[in-house]
Amino acid sequence: MKTAHYSWHLAKRTFTSYRARPLSDDEQEEVAKTLLSSELELWHRFPVEDQRHSYVVFTRFRKRMPSAETSQLSAALLHDIGKIAAPLSTTMRVVATFVGPRTAAFRAYHDHEEIGLQLLENRSDPVTIKLLREMYSAEEACLSDSNAIADPIVAALIDADNI
Ligand SMILES: [Fe+2]
Repeated sequence: MKTAHYSWHLAKRTFTSYRARPLSDDEQEEVAKTLLSSELELWHRFPVEDQRHSYVVFTRFRKRMPSAETSQLSAALLHDIGKIAAPLSTTMRVVATFVGPRTAAFRAYHDHEEIGLQLLENRSDPVTIKLLREMYSAEEACLSDSNAIADPIVAALIDADNI
């Protein structure tokens, strides 16, 4: 079930990934002002298309939650950070989604949420990690209806990522 939902998310993202625009200096500065230096170091390892996706989700989340705290905004920027452990091209991500975790790189791509949580342990604010854990659990349970998610911040994160 999650795979079907995720495949759709990926299909929509694939089109935008091929023409991702690098972040401007102002956008980069917003990211740098939001993330802790230990988080920023990881974030810079994102390829251009993931930096763009991270920034778009960040701005969509901030629009939904204008009074969000920095630790919550960081969750939006870092929600896909585990993908730095599986540096696949856009095309190979599509392949990995459909064939499953058959190679080490594909397995890392499939496990990117858990890998992301491990990367952020001891780097991020506990609030950021807790939000991401709840976001992934809700997605795993396919709670795409924001009314079914108790925490409005988690619901806003999922909604912002649902591009
Ligand atoms: Fe995402």
